[in-house]
Amino acid sequence: ISLKPYNTFGIDLKASFFAEIFAESDLKMLFENELVKSQKLLIIGGGSNILFTQDYDGLVLKMSIKGIEAKVEGNIVKVTAGAGVIWNDFVNYCVENRFAGVENLSLIPGTVGASPIQNIGAYGVELKDVFDSCTAFEIKIGAIKTFLHADCHFGYRESIFKNELKGGYIITSVTFNLKTEAALNTSYGAIEAELQKRGIENPGLADVSAAVSHIRVSKLPDPSTIGNAGSFFKNPVIEKYEFAEIVSKHPDVVHYPTADGKIKLAAGWLIEQCGWKGKTQGNTGTWKNQALVLVNHGNASGKEVYDFSEQIIDSVKSTFGVTLAREVNIL
Ligand code: EPU
Repeated sequence: ISLKPYNTFGIDLKASFFAEIFAESDLKMLFENELVKSQKLLIIGGGSNILFTQDYDGLVLKMSIKGIEAKVEGNIVKVTAGAGVIWNDFVNYCVENRFAGVENLSLIPGTVGASPIQNIGAYGVELKDVFDSCTAFEIKIGAIKTFLHADCHFGYRESIFKNELKGGYIITSVTFNLKTEAALNTSYGAIEAELQKRGIENPGLADVSAAVSHIRVSKLPDPSTIGNAGSFFKNPVIEKYEFAEIVSKHPDVVHYPTADGKIKLAAGWLIEQCGWKGKTQGNTGTWKNQALVLVNHGNASGKEVYDFSEQIIDSVKSTFGVTLAREVNIL
């Protein structure tokens, strides 16, 4: 089966086996089969964070468990969504029902089930700020387990599911802690500016969601027309003494302090300074409005995109002494 419809980079490679999962019971049934258990396994949601560089010689599972349920408890609401719910459909559901907390995460591609794995985040909010718990199928024992917030070891684009537990669990649903009274987070400069431009003084959830969506659409390429997987690299986090050296040579380096006393650099800025912004090379390149995003201009191979990303890493390393790490999963 061709994987092209299942990855937003639009890379045309094949998987040996493929199955779509609509319920937890599908997983139980499937993994009773020894042949299935012995396969190499890849779980995909929206396919918005992977780059295929070769055919997948194993089983690809596409998660399509749907459904959203809300339980209001005073001014808190717990919303549970199936792993296969499209992330932005979930955000829209929350905005329409006036459940506050995920409006800043509007228009992030992908699914609910993938959201805890790399602790998705944008415009001042991360998934971990609203995460309550999730359920996951433990492949080895064939049963569902619940993970609470502390179990997940969330960090910047990190969780236990990408690290210690990688490959062992399949997330089936996520429960969020949202609020029925909006305490909006509009401190992120770009949101403030967009609301001001629209003349909105007392924004509601829908206003923030619309502002964020507008910013994203204007900065980021739409994967339905130009293949991409959002930010290709993570913003590097470095020590203060390393930063001191960089800022002495590059006084205008875009940076943010982190909660644990380190410095996060804007990778998009580093890449742009090295002259890569909007560059096209063969069928691939960086996006004209956001250098952190690599794109497929049509018919790029995964290998081509990967090799291009190597050149960017080398170039940023030799100019700034900083090694960029990929945010996208390479397969
Ligand atoms: N910048 C440049 N040139 C560029 C891009 C960015 O100079 O080509 C500088 C600008 O100064 C800008 C700053 O970098 O002010 C930050 O850029 P932006 O606000 O676009 O955010 P980002 O740090 O590049 C991160 C996330 C995005 C998320 C945005 C908004 C990562 C790896 N990326 O990007 O998430 O939408 O913040 O909060 O943390 C994703 O993970 O796929 C993703 C799109």
